[in-house]
Amino acid sequence: ALNEREVEFNGHIAEGNFVEPADWMPERYRKTLIRQMSQHAHSEVVGMLPEGNWILRAPTLKRKAILIAKVQDEAGHGLYLYSATETLGVDRENLYEDLLAGRAKYSSIFNYPTLNWADVGVIGWLVDGAAIMNQVPLTRCSYGPYARAMVRICKEESFHQRQGFDLLLQMMQGTHEQKEMVQDAVNRWWWPSLMMFGPEDKDSVHSDESKAWGIKRISNDELRQSFVDATVPQAELLGITLPDPDLKWDENTGHYRFGKIDWDEFWRVVSGDGLCNRDRIATKKAAWREGAWVREAAQAYARNLSNNGGK
Ligand code: 3HC
Repeated sequence: ALNEREVEFNGHIAEGNFVEPADWMPERYRKTLIRQMSQHAHSEVVGMLPEGNWILRAPTLKRKAILIAKVQDEAGHGLYLYSATETLGVDRENLYEDLLAGRAKYSSIFNYPTLNWADVGVIGWLVDGAAIMNQVPLTRCSYGPYARAMVRICKEESFHQRQGFDLLLQMMQGTHEQKEMVQDAVNRWWWPSLMMFGPEDKDSVHSDESKAWGIKRISNDELRQSFVDATVPQAELLGITLPDPDLKWDENTGHYRFGKIDWDEFWRVVSGDGLCNRDRIATKKAAWREGAWVREAAQAYARNLSNNGGK
């Protein structure tokens, strides 16, 4: 049975109030926020790798500048979210160790390879498009620091999605080979993008509790459906075919029906056996090792600054 404090806490949330770091909160509320927020931050920093691979190979200076700005944004989103997670009394070095040791998750989508330039456009259009769908409701999450971090992140995500769509539109007005590259990339990224929203509601272990606590405002399946409904017309505008023969508008429901998602693939990728899982973690481990001197220098500088009264 809930004790008095939890009843009061749930009432506070039910009235649409934020929970702030100094407020009392049930240990499980704190734990599930640390779980979701740290894995969200891990997704942002691991998410830099697939696109970072194409910064040196961008076809024009304009596209290179856009891609650098986007990847830099993802790093910033990660720092925002690690900082917001630290307000719950955890240390980001421990969170990072959980990622590198394979104890923490990051979004499955980042375990797929970026084979050519069209992948960069499809990631912006589909992956950032799905991320916006999933992140906008989080701006109304009951935990204040998380909700506030999401406001700026969502603004930057819309630039990410727009630049991806624009890149693809340009390629679809190009040569036959460019159109084929875009269609091939969409074929590879469509289904993994639908998996970003998580398992079906009936298989989601956290949804009931997360919804009761105002962390998850809209369910995995509803967000996935909104993403499909919003994306199909954009695919038509681009002139590409989405790789789902069952995709069909349903007049009665006012939504698109779509085919079965391969949940075996989803759980295989989530459990570490996707195409790039080992590569992504090895790259992050190398970055942690090779970046040690930067962390030490920054900490020495900060100590020195505080010893000399900030001058
Ligand atoms: N990849 C990896 N793991 C996933 C996943 C995915 N796509 N979807 C679900 N899972 C995991 C969950 O983390 C949970 O495992 P855990 O208990 O070890 O954490 C398990 O599968 C069961 O799933 P649930 O639906 O019960 O879990 P949640 O209630 O946490 O819902 C979620 C999953 C919708 C992803 C939710 O955690 C969430 O909204 N997270 C914050 C947003 C986020 O991470 N978005 C995607 C990545 S951000 C991004 O794309 C960056 C952009 O800039 C490109």
